[in-house]
Amino acid sequence: MWAELDPGSADPLLPPRPGPAFYDSTSQRWVLSQYDNVLRALREPRLSLYDTRPSGMDVRDNSIRVRLKTRAALSAARLAEWRARIERLALDSIARLPRGVSIDFAADFARPWSVATATIVTGAQAIDSGNLEQLARRVSEAAADPSNPQLEAEATIADAELNKYFERGAIPMGGPAFVALSQTLPAFLANAWLGLLRHPAEIKKLRNQPDLMGNAVQELFRYAGLARKVSRHAADSVSVAGIRMSKGERATLLLASANRDPKQFPDPDRLDIARDAAGQVAFGAGSHSCVGVSLIRMAVAVATSAFVQAVAGADESRTIEWHGGSSFQWPSELYVYLENA
Ligand code: HEM
Repeated sequence: MWAELDPGSADPLLPPRPGPAFYDSTSQRWVLSQYDNVLRALREPRLSLYDTRPSGMDVRDNSIRVRLKTRAALSAARLAEWRARIERLALDSIARLPRGVSIDFAADFARPWSVATATIVTGAQAIDSGNLEQLARRVSEAAADPSNPQLEAEATIADAELNKYFERGAIPMGGPAFVALSQTLPAFLANAWLGLLRHPAEIKKLRNQPDLMGNAVQELFRYAGLARKVSRHAADSVSVAGIRMSKGERATLLLASANRDPKQFPDPDRLDIARDAAGQVAFGAGSHSCVGVSLIRMAVAVATSAFVQAVAGADESRTIEWHGGSSFQWPSELYVYLENA
């Protein structure tokens, strides 16, 4: 059963089908994948993110403090200021790309633009961005494939070095924010744009109706959300999703599968930018949902608007190679043809 639901399917844009909650004795975890069950579990306060509480530190208070500080740093005024800068950057970079040949839009646009966005938002020095990008890549590779101890060891060293840059940074959690923007964001964009390239009518619709962008971003989160799963630990015995978890037991919540639950999202494998996907759980839900989501929503809208205006279609002669591991995967290259300027 777990093998069937193990989030490591050949094509990450086709996550395992949701099914009833069950206990997987190999990994010794409950596995939840249906939308209602995952949402209830995400909102259940007795299901904690933390395995053990580090001594002398109130993890919950610290998490609330970080959330409040990050929210304050991501004010509407700041988002508008960043938006203007990264929009200009996107248009300038795409104008310089060659026409008439197939190009790797992930390497030639998404990755360098995301590093520049990370540099602007975190207030890092442009001269440091190459070094920061390499450190961030090591942290991200380990997050994508948590079962690889070699990557984990390299990430611990890289993470400490990265955080030193941001000790007195412009926004709280500058190190993790740099990783999320420079690495997680382009990985998500590659998945989202592959989804769009597989549904070319939606690209056309979005190009002709730019007002649909806010809606489209929610649908791209639902359809191509990067985090396949999150973990929880029962801080107390708890009944959730029709199962009884004892204190100390663990659960895996399959976010990507929940986002394809036909009871919540009819015809779930169809990317439909006009559908109401606002309830998607790609960034979690409840008190631990992603605090950077307003920033990511803005950045995805800017980059995707540039994508739909510029891209004529996929280079069908290329096969997709996937990169990453059990937590998230993305296409390492995305070959497309651009419209003539
Ligand atoms: C595409 C980029 C991103 C993805 C896919 C992503 C995904 C997620 C997910 C799935 C969670 C929920 C974890 C859980 O429930 O266990 C989360 C939490 C979180 N995210 Fe993000 N995130 C992204 C970008 C960011 C950025 C840019 C920031 C900061 C500026 C950020 C800060 C956080 C924080 C602080 C939490 C934990 C909140 C808590 O524990 O209360 N994320 N993220």
